[in-house]
Amino acid sequence: MGAARPPAGGIRVNATGESGAADQPVVRLTGVGKTFGAMDAPVVALADINLEIGRGEFVSLIGPSGCGKSTLLRLIGDLTDATDGSVEVNGKPARRARLDRDYGMVFQSPVLFDWRTVEDNVRLPLELFGHDRASQDRRASEMLELVGLTEFAKRHPYELSGGMQQRVAIARALAFSPSLLLMDEPFGALDEMTRERMNSEVLSIWERTGITVVFVTHSIPEAVFLSSRVAVMSARPGRVTRIVEVDLPRPRGLETRESPRYFNLIIEVREALRAGDRAGAASEATLASPERTAAEGGIG
Ligand SMILES: Nc1ncnc2c1ncn2[C@@H]1O[C@H](COP(=O)(O)OP(=O)(O)OP(=O)(O)O)[C@@H](O)[C@H]1O
Ligand SMILES: [Mg+2]
Repeated sequence: MGAARPPAGGIRVNATGESGAADQPVVRLTGVGKTFGAMDAPVVALADINLEIGRGEFVSLIGPSGCGKSTLLRLIGDLTDATDGSVEVNGKPARRARLDRDYGMVFQSPVLFDWRTVEDNVRLPLELFGHDRASQDRRASEMLELVGLTEFAKRHPYELSGGMQQRVAIARALAFSPSLLLMDEPFGALDEMTRERMNSEVLSIWERTGITVVFVTHSIPEAVFLSSRVAVMSARPGRVTRIVEVDLPRPRGLETRESPRYFNLIIEVREALRAGDRAGAASEATLASPERTAAEGGIG
């Protein structure tokens, strides 16, 4: 056992070959900013984000509510456009990566179709893109095995627990063999024990597939337990204020959660969040300063 990642097992999920050099970052964010709203009332959600995520990394984004975590994930996934800077996935513009189906996404709510069986939910993206029935079947059964739901293939989502439904959503997100998995608070709605179990399962999937994961969470312990690096964000506008390297040995399990190093890293992330919060409050104070307001015509 050591800090190194265990070799990927028999299940091949991502096709790295098509995605360029192995040492090329999977995600490269350069000077990324995002402003919402009209010119007279802009909301600067993100400012000057610079971040590279290497192949096979597990990176968590953590920060206060409204700091732009979901927006950043959506920018990487080309679900929204950056106002400034560039977003590259596998060395391509995010738009191209989306068309090439380089990534899968999992959200807080699993968004499954209740009238379709579990396996029919997993096969859906392949069906929509015209894959033949045999390859749909093969892929759905491989992915259900990966998430441990083989025996529930013929059930419907409403017959499953919340954690199991989220596993179906993960299986579906992996159906296209993405090289990148984007997860936005996927376990936020689950109770603590189920969440811990799902954390171990997602790590096991990550270890067996070699996929790169970007994971948004509010939970400091979850971020530390899962990640190779934690990107700490500040509010208003969202910036990455600190990257915490998580050097806990893998595979991680119960012993990890009880180790002194784990607790120390939790404290480190918590302090980084506090420092970011203070910086955010200071920049908000600057934004609200009388000079600025006067210059904008707010007071006469
Ligand atoms: N489509 C939109 N139109 C206008 N403003 C938006 C839009 N999406 C997000 N915002 C604003 O951008 C900021 C960042 O929102 P975002 O949802 O990315 O935050 P978050 O960090 O994911 O928050 P949470 O932790 O609560 O999920 C917020 O101020 C939000 O109001
Ligand atoms: Mg969010």
